[in-house]
Amino acid sequence: MKYHEPRLISFTNAFVVTALYILFFILGSLIISPDRLKDLYLLLYLVVSAMILFLVSFFVFRFTLEKFIYSKIRLIYKSIHNIKRKKDEGRHQRIDSRLLDEVNQEVEEWQLEKSEEIEQLRQLEKYRREFIGNVSHELKTPLFNIQGYILTLLDGGLEDSSVNMEYLRRTEKSIERLIQVVEDLDEIAQLESGQIQLRIIRFDLVALTKEVIELLEMKADKKGIKLACSRQDKPVYVEGDQEKIRQVLTNLIENSIRYGSKKGRTKVSFFDMDEYILTEVTDNGIGIEPEEISRVFERFYRAQRGRATFAKGKGLGLAIVKHILEAHHQTVNVRSTIGVGTTFGFTMKKV
Ligand SMILES: Nc1ncnc2c1ncn2[C@@H]1O[C@H](COP(=O)(O)OP(=O)(O)OP(=O)(O)O)[C@@H](O)[C@H]1O
Ligand SMILES: [Mg+2]
Repeated sequence: MKYHEPRLISFTNAFVVTALYILFFILGSLIISPDRLKDLYLLLYLVVSAMILFLVSFFVFRFTLEKFIYSKIRLIYKSIHNIKRKKDEGRHQRIDSRLLDEVNQEVEEWQLEKSEEIEQLRQLEKYRREFIGNVSHELKTPLFNIQGYILTLLDGGLEDSSVNMEYLRRTEKSIERLIQVVEDLDEIAQLESGQIQLRIIRFDLVALTKEVIELLEMKADKKGIKLACSRQDKPVYVEGDQEKIRQVLTNLIENSIRYGSKKGRTKVSFFDMDEYILTEVTDNGIGIEPEEISRVFERFYRAQRGRATFAKGKGLGLAIVKHILEAHHQTVNVRSTIGVGTTFGFTMKKV
């Protein structure tokens, strides 16, 4: 923002007043007697009086102007300063002749801060709207299914032995899905609000991985996928909540089976990184499009190819993984190539 300093305005005004004075003086002298202008004393008087007039009017203008501007601006300045002071306690609150510079600077800072805040709020609002839309969609589908099955049963299906058991089973499946969505959302909400207390213990990450692999082997077999762990015998002790890390490994390995290719393979590998251990889950499945990679950790986000491969996904597994690892102050990353495969990696602190 540009503004004219009172000093410059006062200088210009004083200059104009003095110029007018000199002009009128000369004109007056010419009218009275042109010869007077040849009088050296009179010229000296003109120069000295013009200088005095210039200085006096400069200071009078400046004083009046500053007083006027400051009185108008002081209130705005104080309001902005007070808002800023809440975040910026240590800063001085001086109001002196550099006031305009400070106001200018503070207004600029304030404007920048506010526009950033507005942008963040806009993003949050967009995110909130999308989130509510996703939740209602996720809940509506199984609810409508349940309603359909029950209505059919009430309309006589209950007595029809060829459909009654099947419809009850499907109702139960839809209820199970509802429970899963609500439980996942509840878990994310608790992790986000920091309500979940992690039970930090020392445990062997390799042994835990082997347990998870054993549990998921049946699922993998159905798709002809081989699950493998790179470090079979050497334990790696880490610090963390064992059950939550079990959930992380389960979600990642389950995804590698869901989105893996038939007769493919999933490998869990460990890499030493000084204080940390990096665990990577690699598959040779469908892969994720580059423009979608950054979004897979968002709640309810499902990549195009993933949705086509496995329709029942909720898009919540990776959001939970990310939250669990963030609660452990650890990171998770992903790299993927279409038609080659995907690798999810996360770190844990060694002990
Ligand atoms: N190993 C993988 N290979 C390819 N795509 C993947 C892989 N893992 C995740 N994705 C993509 O990321 C999306 C989000 O994964 P996420 O685990 O959060 O949800 P989901 O598997 O669809 O459902 P759920 O909540 O039941 O886990 C998936 O829908 C899929 O498109
Ligand atoms: Mg998943």
